[in-house]
Amino acid sequence: MDAKKSIEALQFFATGLTEGALVHKLQGQIFKSQGFSKFGQKYIDHFNEEMEWGEKFVERILDLIMAIAIRYFTKFGHSAKMAEVLTGAKAETVATPITEPVDVLYLGSGVLLGRISGDMADFIRTLTPDRVKRVVCFGSCAIIKSPVPQMRSLLQAQGIAVDERSFTCKGSMGPLHAGHPNKQDLDDLRKFVQTTL
Ligand SMILES: Cc1cc2nc3c(=O)[nH]c(=O)nc-3n(C[C@H](O)[C@H](O)[C@H](O)COP(=O)(O)O)c2cc1C
Repeated sequence: MDAKKSIEALQFFATGLTEGALVHKLQGQIFKSQGFSKFGQKYIDHFNEEMEWGEKFVERILDLIMAIAIRYFTKFGHSAKMAEVLTGAKAETVATPITEPVDVLYLGSGVLLGRISGDMADFIRTLTPDRVKRVVCFGSCAIIKSPVPQMRSLLQAQGIAVDERSFTCKGSMGPLHAGHPNKQDLDDLRKFVQTTL
């Protein structure tokens, strides 16, 4: 389902839930005033539950209307594999510039001979704070701790807000960490992303 249809469906349910909830609250108050306090309270509890669901729908709508972009540079396909599990936008390489304002840019990279690629560095230099509100970095590597600090310092030099949260997993280098990023790494990345929206 595309985002527009999802938003419409969520709005429909959120409106229905809220309207129904208010009727239940009113009904609960009427029952209470007639001396049926336990019964009335059940209706009011139901109202509270429905309102909580309504809030969840609204949160989801906000997620959907947030402008998200996903960019990566990949030498061996690892960052591409990672970028593909992210949702909210099509994953593209850094060869595709950011042309529209985005609320969150997910940026992924590996490390080659101790460094992130020149293509990634060049891409970061095209970014401006008025176009990109916040960047969340992710990446993989075999030896050093993470490519993220290199990305972070280039982004900060552009004046871009970089989320303090980031995700790094092992990325294979020949037999070293063979199979990584693996299924567990991708599941962990999926979970991580949910916390950064
Ligand atoms: C030739 C080669 C050089 C690499 N150099 C490094 C390195 O210096 N430090 C490191 O931590 N990982 C290094 N790696 C591991 C890569 O960072 C890792 O495979 C990463 O997942 C690659 O991501 P990508 O496929 O998205 O580019 C190297 C891998 C290869 C094959």
